[in-house]
Amino acid sequence: MPEPKPVARGGRRKLRASVGAALLAALCASGAATSASSPAPSPAASPAPRVAERIALGRELFFESRLSGDGSRSCASCHAPDKGYADGEALSRGYNHAGHFRNTPSLIALAAKPRLMWDGRYPAERLADVVVDMIRSPVTMNGDLQIVVERVRQLPSLLQAWQRAYGAREAPSIDGLVDALAAYASSRGNAQTPVDRALHGDEQALSAAALEGMRLFQGKAGCARCHSGAAFTDGGLHRLGVPENPEILRDPERTISLLRHYAVHGARDPMSERADTGAAAWTQRAADRGRFATPSLRGVALTAPYMHNGVFATLAQVVEFYDRGGGRASELQPLGLDARERAALVAFLEALSPPLPPESAPPTDNYATTGAGR
Ligand code: HEC
Ligand code: HEC
Repeated sequence: MPEPKPVARGGRRKLRASVGAALLAALCASGAATSASSPAPSPAASPAPRVAERIALGRELFFESRLSGDGSRSCASCHAPDKGYADGEALSRGYNHAGHFRNTPSLIALAAKPRLMWDGRYPAERLADVVVDMIRSPVTMNGDLQIVVERVRQLPSLLQAWQRAYGAREAPSIDGLVDALAAYASSRGNAQTPVDRALHGDEQALSAAALEGMRLFQGKAGCARCHSGAAFTDGGLHRLGVPENPEILRDPERTISLLRHYAVHGARDPMSERADTGAAAWTQRAADRGRFATPSLRGVALTAPYMHNGVFATLAQVVEFYDRGGGRASELQPLGLDARERAALVAFLEALSPPLPPESAPPTDNYATTGAGR
């Protein structure tokens, strides 16, 4: 269970930064992708800084369904490489159709994100804790850490990958495995986007519409007020009034997952909740009700549907939502954009996707699984 520190509201950075400055920062950040966001290696895992080998081990593990309780589900079942490391669904199906109450976020440019989870309950430095949470939570993989280590120890191909990363004398440990998964996940989607190339002087990189969209993003539409910095996020918590997704209350399994989330975070009366209260669940502050962390926009064109509960199917719908001034009790104001301006913003958002080299599952060890994935 996480014990995150509250985030400074309104973002830690001043929001004057132009998109240009933000992207320069982004390019610096992407170079540091493999080291910056990996947790400190445990004493057992040191002193081997074999980054490429750790990423290779992390890749094997990322596609390995035997990290989950019944061997049915890998990280890639939800964070699918061909869907921008998300799953293309409004709400995650969850472990064995346990039914999650949130959308699966993309792992594109994970290394540049200042906060993790839709409600921002983990700072980026705690990526290792997020990975452990993914393995253990009954709504994601329902895995047992001890069994995970045992499975790696007993699967020849995984054991070999472990030994290449950490040395033959190092026995597999959960810290080392989590570290490798974090290293792999952080190494995805860090290539330049057309927007990055344009800011480095490539005049052909963006269409006229996308260029107009970029000006609107920084100016009239006010997007850069929150979507600033390396991953186009201020790391802050904001209330946009995104409508509830009725599917959560229609499906009892999803409702249970939502109420369990409140119980885990120590809510006084979890059973009384019927909405996703966002950051209030972990900050325990009524003022944070309905506040969510500003998400990264890198790769956003690849990861529909949108928002914490996937209520918007397209980027055009997201832009229309902003144009209206958001939803109930939103901190946004109506923008008064015309159809051409809305289309220009969409064109800009579409130019924020890095090329993703095709990534397929490594061959599975000859060792029967109990489930067929999804
Ligand atoms: C059943 C689907 C599912 C599986 C399996 C799964 N995840 Fe997730 N993942 C999610 C959902 C849903 C969230 C968002 C939860 C929230 O915001 O409350 C998430 C969030 C994350 C985040 C935070 C991303 C961000 O931008 O905030 C990371 C990192 C992550 N998962 C990595 C992994 C890794 C590594 C694995 C395998 C060990 C994994 N996930 C397995 C569904 C899944
Ligand atoms: C007040 C801060 C704020 C402003 C201003 C803002 N956003 Fe957001 N944005 C957010 C937050 C917070 C979310 C997530 C909300 C949620 O899931 O409930 C979000 C979500 C998004 C998403 C969905 C991302 C995903 O992966 O699902 C897109 C796209 C987006 N914003 C684009 C824009 C554009 C374009 C503008 C300008 C018109 C803009 N934003 C202005 C804070 C802001």
